[in-house]
Amino acid sequence: MTDRTVRILRPDEHRAAWDLFRAALHVPTGSDEDWARVETSHQAERGWGVFEPDLIGTARSFDAEIVVPGGALLPVAAVTGVGVRAGRTRRGVLTALQHAQLNDQAERGVPLALLHASEGAIYGRYGYGVATLAHRVVVDRHRARLRPDVPAGGEVEVLGIDEAAPKWPELYAATGMGRLAAMTRPELYWPGFESWMRRQSQLVQTAVHRGPDGVDGYLTYHVEDAKERGKLEVQVLHYSNPAAFAGLWRFLLSVDLVDEIVLPMRPLDEPSALLFADPRMAKTERTDDESWLRLVDVQAALAGRAYGSADPVVIEVEDRTLPANDGRYRISPDGAERTGAEPALRMSVDTLAMLYFGTWHASALAATGRIELLDPAAAAAADELFETRESVWCGTFF
Ligand SMILES: CC(C)(COP(=O)(O)OP(=O)(O)OC[C@H]1O[C@@H](n2cnc3c(N)ncnc32)[C@H](O)[C@@H]1OP(=O)(O)O)[C@@H](O)C(=O)NCCC(=O)NCCS
Repeated sequence: MTDRTVRILRPDEHRAAWDLFRAALHVPTGSDEDWARVETSHQAERGWGVFEPDLIGTARSFDAEIVVPGGALLPVAAVTGVGVRAGRTRRGVLTALQHAQLNDQAERGVPLALLHASEGAIYGRYGYGVATLAHRVVVDRHRARLRPDVPAGGEVEVLGIDEAAPKWPELYAATGMGRLAAMTRPELYWPGFESWMRRQSQLVQTAVHRGPDGVDGYLTYHVEDAKERGKLEVQVLHYSNPAAFAGLWRFLLSVDLVDEIVLPMRPLDEPSALLFADPRMAKTERTDDESWLRLVDVQAALAGRAYGSADPVVIEVEDRTLPANDGRYRISPDGAERTGAEPALRMSVDTLAMLYFGTWHASALAATGRIELLDPAAAAAADELFETRESVWCGTFF
């Protein structure tokens, strides 16, 4: 058997890991200039490598915080940069990385980990579950008319990337944290984001909305095929009130040389269609998993969120990767705690992650076999306890 080492990368190995990750995604090797920009986004002690003896697999994360039901902010490991060298896949390299990374997070007391998955079949086995969903909205710009009663909105100013980049952190902080599953973006998030924006082949613009109390919304966009059938794509859109949402839509409809406006990953409950005289002008083309959550410390994660009103329910959780989480937890409107009581529901930790933000109901997860109902009457109570009425959407891509 080949000698395999799994360890934290030294800073001088981060670039090789970045190149390996890009190659795994079929992206060309990054330039020196791009590396100079993104180097600082690689947090020390958070990059992992698998060596045989050369580097053949990598994964990393950065530290952030995430809004959980009830409004508390919990620490989250934002996992990214996962890749295994072509020719070395399906030999357990990712499994080795996942075990190392999750155990490290558990040792450091991080309650949650979050990622965006390239494919849906990869992460469930490591205890991640689909935590938030998003849909793609497409609007026919020439036919779409705003209803007359849509809020008037304020002023929009368009900034080029050089001017906008230093302002992005404060724009996001002012407008991006209003939903469940919204994440803080630490300083080291931004170089990676800027690099992503600068890699777009079209001009990236930032539209900033100002209402009576100052900046209350912004978006970034680019336009493809402006000479033919112009397609305006919005990468980022955040706002803190309905007037800013309406004002930014009014702006989008005003951009010249555009036939179609595309917003690839929007919250399911965002009311774009309601802005238009004909609501069919905003077409929902597909719904995708937006983020995958991992309860690294089940007790801390469950205790960190709030619950609805219902009779208490005892759940039994199985965690094959982090067995310290195995056990029974009593969930009630007062919180969550370990218990020795008989369970009413049994599930694996990836299914618990699907319940955590309220995106899925316990009864639906039971109906599809993901939850074993030991006491069928408890499904309705679990639905009420885990239900969240606020909008759930991460909105940060990493
Ligand atoms: C996804 C990827 C990291 C998997 O790495 P890997 O080293 O091949 O994974 P492992 O060998 O540890 O696989 C463990 C298990 O997951 C399964 N698996 C891994 N990747 C899978 C995939 N893409 N689709 C379906 N199953 C997958 C394996 O078949 C294996 O199953 P088994 O335990 O039943 O045999 C690798 O294929 C890769 O680099 N892909 C391209 C880049 C990418 O998509 N990165 C993820 C970004 S979020």
